[in-house]
Amino acid sequence: MPHNDPESMSLFDIELRLLLEAIQAKYQHDFRGYSMASLRRRLGRALEDLRVDSLSQLQHRVLREPAVFARLMQYLTVQVSEMFRDPSYFRALREAVVPVLKTYPSVKVWVAGCSSGEELWSLAILFAEEGLAERTIFYATDINPEALRCAREGVYAVERMAGFSTNYLAAGGKASLSDYYHASYGGAHFSRDLIGQAVFADHSLATDNVFSEVHLVSCRNVLIYFNRELQDRAVGLFGESLVRRGFLGLGSQESLRFSRHAADFEPVVPAERVYQRR
Ligand SMILES: C[S@@+](CC[C@H](N)C(=O)[O-])C[C@H]1O[C@@H](n2cnc3c(N)ncnc32)[C@H](O)[C@@H]1O
Repeated sequence: MPHNDPESMSLFDIELRLLLEAIQAKYQHDFRGYSMASLRRRLGRALEDLRVDSLSQLQHRVLREPAVFARLMQYLTVQVSEMFRDPSYFRALREAVVPVLKTYPSVKVWVAGCSSGEELWSLAILFAEEGLAERTIFYATDINPEALRCAREGVYAVERMAGFSTNYLAAGGKASLSDYYHASYGGAHFSRDLIGQAVFADHSLATDNVFSEVHLVSCRNVLIYFNRELQDRAVGLFGESLVRRGFLGLGSQESLRFSRHAADFEPVVPAERVYQRR
């Protein structure tokens, strides 16, 4: 359905478009380039949970109550993550990317759309095991402040550790995941030494620009929520941010196949969506 043709738009879609405009104008968060099918589903759920009858009513409240926008952020963004999610991706980094990174005196890694930090802490463990920790600076960015707070803390429910440990071992982990955290009050607290001087920042792939030159961008399961144009914007940022021959890792359901910037990269481990800037 063409979403820009008001004749064919449902009321819900019209209200959705207006809500996104309102959020952009009031909070400078731009969700207008997100995949509409997925936004529709999640905002439908928000209406039920927040007990509001229509997106127009929700818009009224969002414009007046920042706390409602903060709650809505949990619906506008998807926070699902795991440590060593898709273990074969981390194995590919270990085998194909780490040996190249080891040739640099210092390494910068950008974890874009880091959510609550599971991907960051996984990379930090992998880098520590490969002897890269001392020379690496991690940049972890997201637009969700609550997620960034969790990422910085590095504390996860102990019930999640069994699954994370299985992933870690499948990813080629060299020790036991429990070597990296201590359990207390139901939380697994990961050692701060792992992430060193990591920088956590509010950065939007939709509206912000490049902030550093990096050797690896890991941006997994973020582009799937964007439309083609916004995906192109994000991949353009990654290309500008990477050093020549720097690496880009995407999620298992993402690829550069249809990207405007595809020619700027070559696949390194195609099955794991690991690319290298030309
Ligand atoms: C499903 S999580 C992915 C987490 C992690 N990368 C992983 O693969 O496990 C998607 C993350 O992208 C973030 N995100 C959504 N839009 C973004 C944007 N415009 N810029 C940066 N991050 C964004 C969300 O807040 C969320 O934390």
